[in-house]
Amino acid sequence: MYAIEFEMVSKSFGAHRVLVDLDLQVRPGEKVTLIGPSGSGKTTVLRLAMTLEKPTSGDIRLFGESILFDAVGKPLKGSQEARVRRRCGMVFQQFNLFPHLTVLQNLILAPTTVLGQHRKQAERSALDYLRMVGLEAKVHAYPTQLSGGQQQRIAIARALILKPEILLLDEITSALDPELAGEVLDVVRGVAQETNVTLLIVTHEMRFAREVSDRVLVFDAGRIIEQGSPDKIFSNPESARTRSFLQSVLSH
Ligand SMILES: Nc1ncnc2c1ncn2[C@@H]1O[C@H](COP(=O)(O)OP(=O)(O)O)[C@@H](O)[C@H]1O
Ligand SMILES: [Mg+2]
Repeated sequence: MYAIEFEMVSKSFGAHRVLVDLDLQVRPGEKVTLIGPSGSGKTTVLRLAMTLEKPTSGDIRLFGESILFDAVGKPLKGSQEARVRRRCGMVFQQFNLFPHLTVLQNLILAPTTVLGQHRKQAERSALDYLRMVGLEAKVHAYPTQLSGGQQQRIAIARALILKPEILLLDEITSALDPELAGEVLDVVRGVAQETNVTLLIVTHEMRFAREVSDRVLVFDAGRIIEQGSPDKIFSNPESARTRSFLQSVLSH
């Protein structure tokens, strides 16, 4: 069974077809990176998996279960959708922590409200995840007292505390200076090594993509134009469009 499966998924915004008959399977525990030019549809793939968007056609399954239709093909109700969606966590380019809440309050908010955990239990778990991202000392800090890199590490902890089986990371270092990006990528490396979470990563950090992924997908104009091991994609790409994309990002 696949952790994520897209079957003939298309997505249009008005007349603009941003994903075209996308077939994609990701195995449990697999670390997959999506690369490709801006506007090629990478974020849309993650937003569809997270049920933040609905496809125009096709089906999407998480661990064999459709996130769109029930067993008789009717659209899922909100509560059914929420249950399936809980298997996914997402971290965005903008960290969007709640500014009026401390780090601890940000972390326990969803566990206590969405999952109905006891406060004490949620706090213990929050400390475990803060340790994992190396920010135990900041437990009572407010987001504005943290660097961008630290805020993004907290955002990762906030996603992990809900124990997603699939973690979606959308350009999580794009808003950061290079030295802060490094500490965030270190945290993701740790998560990749220490957990069996399935990772779907959109990134422009090609060296990181090469190190952390089992498989790289190259997107262009709403399609996967090439995919393979990081070695194959970065050392020996077949497609001329992949080569020119890699040249343009590596020359920056
Ligand atoms: N909500 C939306 N409404 C209209 N167009 C959108 C919307 N979201 C994305 N798009 C368009 O879809 C295309 C793919 O976007 P996106 O998935 O964000 O690409 P990427 O993440 O690869 O840069 C882009 O042309 C973008 O402008
Ligand atoms: Mg994007």
